[in-house]
Amino acid sequence: MVETLYKLPVEGSSYEAVMDQVIALRGEMTDGQLGKLASTSFQGQNEMQKLVHDAFVEFMDWNGLFSFRESAAAKMENDVLDICIDLLNGGEAARANLTVGGTESNFSGLHAMRGWARATKPHIKQPEIVAPYSTHSTVHKTAKYLDIRVVTVPQKDDLSVDIEGIREAVGPNTIGIVGSAPNWPYGTVDPIEEFGQIAIKADLWLHVDACVGGYILPFFRELGVELPFYDFTVPGVRSISADLHKYGYAPKPCSTILWRSQAEQQYHFMPINEWACGTYLSQGFVGSRTMGPIAGIWALMHFWGREGYLENAKHILRLKSIIVRKVESIEGLVAWKTDGPLQMIGADDFDITLVVGGLEKKGWSLLGVNVPPAIHLTLDVMEEEFIEKFTADLEEVVEGIRSGEITEEGLLTYGGVGDKALAPKWLLSALEIFEQGIDS
Ligand SMILES: Cc1ncc(COP(=O)(O)O)c(C=O)c1O
Repeated sequence: MVETLYKLPVEGSSYEAVMDQVIALRGEMTDGQLGKLASTSFQGQNEMQKLVHDAFVEFMDWNGLFSFRESAAAKMENDVLDICIDLLNGGEAARANLTVGGTESNFSGLHAMRGWARATKPHIKQPEIVAPYSTHSTVHKTAKYLDIRVVTVPQKDDLSVDIEGIREAVGPNTIGIVGSAPNWPYGTVDPIEEFGQIAIKADLWLHVDACVGGYILPFFRELGVELPFYDFTVPGVRSISADLHKYGYAPKPCSTILWRSQAEQQYHFMPINEWACGTYLSQGFVGSRTMGPIAGIWALMHFWGREGYLENAKHILRLKSIIVRKVESIEGLVAWKTDGPLQMIGADDFDITLVVGGLEKKGWSLLGVNVPPAIHLTLDVMEEEFIEKFTADLEEVVEGIRSGEITEEGLLTYGGVGDKALAPKWLLSALEIFEQGIDS
């Protein structure tokens, strides 16, 4: 497939010439505000962005792998992780580690779960976890890396979790249950308390994927939003993944894996002595990483404080109610009932992909759900004029569909394949491999 390789330029260029190109490339990216409901989400307001960027740059060159050699780095990590433990009601016994994202956090939770099962249930040779269909793709992905089978339980017709189905899916090889707060496709918080009861009764590890909700739901609750319990207040929860780089507003990549206590964390670490340079012990799966994100989130947590996070949560709740009210006022559109900062929009009597197509034409970058089809919005603080633009565009697009003017479908995608003409080489190569089939 690869016919021409781009080569390292023989001669360098001036700072100005290169930066001109960088800025031109940056200019081709989706306008931040038009991606706020999807790919450029989690940036918050301009004022805090500047602080986060500046703090990031101060520490960008430092390697987080060596945070144990630098007391300032250790302080920032300790402060942030203590705050995270507190927000998830872990208390003094809880422990936490930084990771580079929800994928690594889910990997870490499942990896520790498997280590615990190997130690306490050695008769299980082919471990399984039980999770609702709504569980995130990265739970499946990381379970595959770890050779853990995922038994998924279909949602009920109203898209809620089938708790009886979860109970019945627990079998002799089950080592744990995975719930989400909230789950990505439907935006609802799983019934973690019921999962906890099942887990305790059957001696299973309950992992909660709170990558989306971990650092915003505590503030929603404080603002009076009624939510199911999902954190360490729920008996049976042993690990929680929570992304700082989503609604914590850390610069990417930055996430956390939290443990109820050291009894769980003991299955996390992977010290290596079998090489030439002494014990190698990293905080998680990855090795070298920039300290930029931890500096960014440390700065933001001190800039905003509790009040700032509450204010941000208020903005998002307001945006949610504006969008839901608008959707409900447009015949044919349906606003799904969600628990957190995600909002899905479905359609009753026309194809929702036409709405995506129409909105994309107006510049919006959007993600989607396939089963059942819906637009998927990750709500973030947006400038007023863009809130108005989105709601007006939505109405106009539906009118255009009704009048037959809009006929071009858009894609309901997540991390999948979009327009092949825009795809990077790795993706085209992957598609070729899948088409040909993998050698066995
Ligand atoms: C519920 C949930 N878990 C895990 C992830 C994976 O996170 P990341 O892309 O940071 O690896 C996501 C990402 O959207 C998510 O929504």
